[in-house]
Amino acid sequence: MSIHLEARPGDIAPIVLLPGDPLRAQYVAERFLGDAVCHNRVRNALGFTGTYQGVRVSVQSTGMGMPSAAIYIGELLAEYGARVLVRIGTCGAIRADLRPRDVVLAQAASTDSAMFRATFGSATYAAAASYDLLHRANALAIARGQRVHVGTVLTSDTFYPDEAAIATWWKPWADHGVLAAEMETAALYTLAARRGAQALSILTVSDNIVTDEHTTAEERQTGFGDMAALALELVAGTLPGT
Ligand code: HPA
Repeated sequence: MSIHLEARPGDIAPIVLLPGDPLRAQYVAERFLGDAVCHNRVRNALGFTGTYQGVRVSVQSTGMGMPSAAIYIGELLAEYGARVLVRIGTCGAIRADLRPRDVVLAQAASTDSAMFRATFGSATYAAAASYDLLHRANALAIARGQRVHVGTVLTSDTFYPDEAAIATWWKPWADHGVLAAEMETAALYTLAARRGAQALSILTVSDNIVTDEHTTAEERQTGFGDMAALALELVAGTLPGT
């Protein structure tokens, strides 16, 4: 048991998928995992462990935003021996050519958060994905016929910007090649690096902030299923600890 997870040591696999939404964790377990067992109900942050193509895989919900995600990711790494962590979530595209439902593989994450200031002071840390996971996920997504983009994301503390900034906040990031905004990846990559674990964020575009396009609830569900299938194919080919 850790402070926020009631699982016993060994109940959680070294490979963990990380959706934000607890019901999406349950959906992955019910749709894709064999012999799935719920390993956490504390705070309704549902987590399940089962098998996919013979490989033990867990799926643990993280909530939204870096402070929440970092609690679960930190405990998975420090107390449960997580070695391969794959976030499956959504993002808001900040480039006009990204369409709703496209897949973004987050090569690295910039952030507007002060969360790691205690660690790095005023310096900036380049929070980066595992290259092995990244290049295999890209090849798999192409083979599956998914529209996929590899590039950087902005991990933001703010979902709703101030009225005054609504039309412009994303421009400096887009001008520096950032593809999309989301709220968890910088913490995932920083904490995984600290423990020598591998991490990747696989994101589907739920909104385009530039073109004001949005996915429907049904499109989000289908997109999520496609992304979970990609993540599971990826981790099934990953040896924990490598
Ligand atoms: N901002 C932050 N996170 C997001 C967004 C967004 O616009 N869309 C989906 N996740």
